[in-house]
This record gives sequence, structure tokens and C-alpha cells, in this order.
Amino acid sequence: MSHTPIDQQRAWCALAEHAAGMGRRHLRDLFVEQPGRFETFSRSAAGLTLDLSKQRWTGQTLDLLLDLARDAGVPEAIRGLLAGERVNRSEDRPALHTALRLPADARLEVGGEDLVPSVHATLARMAEMVERFHAGQWRGATGKPIHDVVNLGVGGSDLGPLMVTHALADYRPEGIHRIDVHFASTMDGSQLADYLTRLNPETTLFVLSSKSFTTIDTLSNARTARDWLKSRLLGAAGEEGVDEALVMRQHFIGVSASPEKMAEWGIADDHQLEFWEWVGGRYSLWGAIGLPIALVVGMEHFRGLLAGAHAMDRHFSEAAPADNLPVLLALAGIWNVNFLDIRAHSILPYDGRLEYFAAYLEQLEMESNGKSVTHDGDQVGYSTCPVLWGQLGPNAQHAFYQLLHQGTQAVECDFIAPRVRYDDVPDPATRDHLMGQHRLTLANCFAQSRVLMLGDDAIEEDGPRPEYKHYRGNQPSSTLLLDRLTPETLGALIALYEHKVFVQATIWDINPFDQWGVELGKKIAGETQHTLEHRTGLEGMDDSTRGLIEAVWSAEAE
Ligand code: F6P
Repeated sequence: MSHTPIDQQRAWCALAEHAAGMGRRHLRDLFVEQPGRFETFSRSAAGLTLDLSKQRWTGQTLDLLLDLARDAGVPEAIRGLLAGERVNRSEDRPALHTALRLPADARLEVGGEDLVPSVHATLARMAEMVERFHAGQWRGATGKPIHDVVNLGVGGSDLGPLMVTHALADYRPEGIHRIDVHFASTMDGSQLADYLTRLNPETTLFVLSSKSFTTIDTLSNARTARDWLKSRLLGAAGEEGVDEALVMRQHFIGVSASPEKMAEWGIADDHQLEFWEWVGGRYSLWGAIGLPIALVVGMEHFRGLLAGAHAMDRHFSEAAPADNLPVLLALAGIWNVNFLDIRAHSILPYDGRLEYFAAYLEQLEMESNGKSVTHDGDQVGYSTCPVLWGQLGPNAQHAFYQLLHQGTQAVECDFIAPRVRYDDVPDPATRDHLMGQHRLTLANCFAQSRVLMLGDDAIEEDGPRPEYKHYRGNQPSSTLLLDRLTPETLGALIALYEHKVFVQATIWDINPFDQWGVELGKKIAGETQHTLEHRTGLEGMDDSTRGLIEAVWSAEAE
């Protein structure tokens, strides 16, 4: 039986009325009227400080949003998520990425089984593998130690490890056999083709990362990699005893929820790392999919990442909604999207190590909450996930900030930066310069959110200014400061956004853990590929697709 849609419930209606009353009140006025906003709207947990004072809201707004969260059942939903209830209803399974970061002495019984021992058994297998690599003992078919590892995966089997290995590159352990990790995701083969011209097949290993092990993007790259290794290592190398089985064994590791498919593809049993259907692809970096991360930073720092995420999980589970970072971040988003009609959201890290964080969040947020059907199968009558994009803030200042400051589009922004950086650089002169560069970066971060908030009022100027120099301000933003960027705080930061997405999904009454919207495209691509390859089936196509296919054929014929 369908329940009353959230936008027809009391708390939502109260918020709509409140929003109408607030009109287009300017952030500048809210700051004048309410001294101490930073104190009022900032919270800290797990090495993160979240400043929500530049949201276009008041204390009353937040109280009403907290009522909404309560009426939508957010506290019960959080308990259900963490306890392993079947929150992914369309696929009838739990979403237990939080189980991947439970400490070894925890217990989590789901369906009569404690999941923690198997999670830690996988971590132990990862640790053994990582140790072999770091000791220079994982050898290719010709006997040389593996030096380059290429992760072949896409979406959740690429973006998390890519983002984290980049963010934590400073944490590479010393005194080990160095492994360079690379990522190839695109089905067009351009990333892979580049590696194949540069890497030595004798010392290169591929990790095939795919939860389903059916993703054509990854499998087509994997086939190319396999043929490259075979053609370069079998016979041509002139090595005695190098046969196909040895190449397959020494140059491939598989990571998947499907051991059968890994075996079918030819991955040796003891080089398979398995994970579970109850881990969503875009929530999977915490386990075996994180192998490339552990290869770069070592298991100790990988465990630090898990510990940081677990600290955020505990905060999410234990803190009251009014002090709960993921809940508050989610409510700010709900207020903007559903009541201020702000449906664009930009992610702006001010630290080059977070270069891939926006790309990571694009999948996490939009693949999770880009939905328009409720759990009961009804069309929603309100907006859900905003369009979310971003890039490094300092570079974005020279790219799309013009639109943020003077365009016609209202945009919510998340500014992210560590409070301190470079204070551990050994050489004092370089340290001073780099710490100065970090302060310069922070100054830009704080200045931009200030100008977005205040507009023209950020600066005192004599006399009128022409309209084209006018800054309207009133763009809301959140600022997240990490104590410093460490495995622990990065883990907490990622978990913060995962939980934010869940809270918003709960309020919007949608399932954040499926992605049915990507299936049709895959099917139609298969049919289109058949037509392109075999020149049949053109008559069933629409006029545009037919024209495009014929353009390809005529180019091939030239
Ligand atoms: O097509 C979307 C998707 O299923 C994502 O959800 C997932 O992260 C990605 O493809 C890769 O899937 P897999 O890990 O099964 O190869």
C-alpha cells in the first residue's frame, strides 16, 4: 500500500511555507542578523569540520528540516542500513559497505551469519598479495618481479581506487619494491593502448576489477591486455617454459563477486579476490576492489582508510541528527534542491591530491540518487539528485567560476581543503614556500565562498560600478576542512558523502543502491554494435542513428 508522498506530509509543507516566507533573503543579511553563525552551523567529527553557515538558512529552517528527517524515518533508516536490512529493495539485498570497515573484533550478524570474519579473511588475503608484491616476489612469467600494475575496471571498479591512490600517493611506504599502479577504464582502449606502448610485458600485471565480470568495457580491455601479453611473452621472448598457463597465472588477478566468471575467463583460483553481492559497485573501494590502493599505500594505510570510514560510520550511527555531519550535509542539499530550487551542485577541492574526488562523487551521487520512482513504484512529484560536477577549485576559478559569480544559474558549492599541509617537508626553505602555497590556496578557497555569499558587499568600493562588474552573491556553499589529508580523514570524508547520499535517498523515498537506468543503454549498444559490425538491421533504426552509422561505413570505405 502506498503511503502519503513526502511532499504532501506536514514537515515538507511547513518547509515550503517557510521557504516562501524567506523569499530571496540574501546571505549577506542573514550574516548581519545572526552573529555567530559559524559557531551555530559548524560541527566536527572524525577529523573533519563542516561549516554550513553559508547555507541560505536560519535556525528555524534547520529545525524544520530536522522535523522532515524525523518524519521521513531517517533515524530508523540509518539503523536498518547499518544492521544489514534489505535496504536495496529492487534487488532485495542489504547494502553493507559499512561492514567492510568494521574492526576485526566487531560482530555483524546478517541472516544468521557473522560477516566480519569473511571480511577480514579477504583483507588478510589482500595483505598476503601486497606483501609479495612489495617484497619483489610476485614474478612475471619470465621470472622478473612485477613493477607495473594496471587496473582494468570502470565506474565503481575504477573511480574509487583511482581517486584514493592519487589522494594518498604521499603515503607510499619506504623501503619496499615499488609498484606503479595505472588505471584503464575506457572501452575505446585509448588509455590501455598508451600503457601498452610504454610498459614492459615481463613486469606488468593486470587486475581485472569487475563486480559482475560481465562489463564489456572492462572485458574488451582485458582481452586486448591478454593478447598483448601472449604475443609478447610466448615464443617471441624466446623463454623456455613460458606457456599460456604461466602467463595467465602470473600476470592477472581478478576481483569480482562472481568467482565462476573469473575462473571461466582464466583467472587462477588463488589469484581471485572475491567480494559480495551486498557491496554496491560504487561503494566497493573498501574491500578487494581497493587492492590497487593497498599496492600503493600498503596495508597499514589501507586499514587507516577503513578506520577513518568506520569512525564516520559510528558518528553517523550515534550522533543526534542535529549534530550528525552526514544528516546535516544531506539536509542542506534537500533545502537547496527542493525548497530554494537550486539544482546544480559543484564540488571544489582546494588540494591537488583530491583531483579525482569530484569525478568519484559524480558517480556516487548521481548513479545513486538520479532516480524518479519511489520505493512503492510511484513517480516522485519533486526533484531528486541535482546535477553535480566539479574539479580542483583553483583550476575551476579560471574555468567555470565566472558562471558561479555572474551566470543565471543558482549553484550550491562544496569547498573542501585540509587545514595544514607541507609542515612535514624536511627541507626548511622548501617547507616554507610550500606552506605559503597552501595558505595561498586556502585564502582563495575562503575568498571564493565569501564572494559567492556576499557578492559586491565583499569589497568596499567608492562610487557606482557598471552592471557588468556586479556580483549578486547569495550562492550557498558548505566548507569542509580536513584536519589534514590522511588515510583516516579521507576515509571519513568518503563515508560522509556515502551517508549523505543515503539520508537524501531516504527523504526522497528512492533506492540509492540500484542503477536500472544504465541497463537499456547497454542493450541498445549491443544491438547497434551488431549492426555496425555485420551491416544488418539498419532498417529498424531511427533516421539519425541510420545517418550516423552510414557516415561511419562511408569513412571506412574511403
Ligand atoms: O553500468 C554501471 C555500473 O554497473 C556501475 O554501477 C558499476 O560501478 C560499473 O558499471 C562497473 O560494473 P562492474 O564492476 O560490474 O564491472
